[in-house]
Amino acid sequence: MNKNITVAIDGPAGAGKSTVAKKMAEMLSFEYIDTGAMYRALTLKILKLGLDPMSVEDVVNTMNSTSIDFKDNHIYLDNIQVDKEIRENIISQNVSYIAKIKEVREGMVRIQQELAKTKSVIMDGRDITTVVLPNADFKFFITASVEERANRRYKELIEKGENNISYEDIKREIENRDKIDSTREIAPLTQSRDSYKIDTTNKTIDECIEEMISMINRR
Ligand code: CDP
Ligand code: CDP
Repeated sequence: MNKNITVAIDGPAGAGKSTVAKKMAEMLSFEYIDTGAMYRALTLKILKLGLDPMSVEDVVNTMNSTSIDFKDNHIYLDNIQVDKEIRENIISQNVSYIAKIKEVREGMVRIQQELAKTKSVIMDGRDITTVVLPNADFKFFITASVEERANRRYKELIEKGENNISYEDIKREIENRDKIDSTREIAPLTQSRDSYKIDTTNKTIDECIEEMISMINRR
């Protein structure tokens, strides 16, 4: 009988989690689950409805009548693919307020745990090693300096043609998100004691993947 393998990755924005997780999932034929995309999708719906991301009642009521699914590595909000919209900067600016809400976290964690029950997965986010998959086979904490992370995100926006945002704006947004994510009451971003830490500030994506695969092979 083959056991399903779980790889859990946590870390702050722009550290390289999703890039390495996607590549490793392809190499290992695992499913990649981007949990941040789920919080972003709910944020998109709240903003589209003109609701306040800080209103717990509005957010929870909206979540209870919303469907969020993954199909073939795409994310669907109420059956509409929203891969592109959820990456907009307005979503990044608001998502951490929604992700602080206890009922939202409970709902998302339940779905994420179900997704990992029937297949081998690589899942990334902020509370995967600590709350969602505390018994994961492999746990990583991927980080980088805030300057490097802001620089990576700034480059991405310039490449997408979003020239109306400065590097300083991006750095401020990331610092604000780091602060909310790591000081919130429920499931704050933190390195669990049994996670293997990789600082990618001066590492390429391939170097990071090599380090992860060699750590996995060692076990
Ligand atoms: O891609 P990026 O690192 O910018 O962020 P993300 O992984 O898409 O996550 C967006 C936001 O969702 C985070 O800043 C957290 O506020 C929230 N999040 C969370 O609370 N728990 C997770 N497991 C994943 C994301
Ligand atoms: O998922 P997370 O927010 O942790 O980061 P990401 O979206 O995977 O990576 C942010 C950007 O940094 C992407 O454009 C990656 O190509 C880039 N990156 C890099 O230049 N060097 C690395 N070692 C890791 C990521």
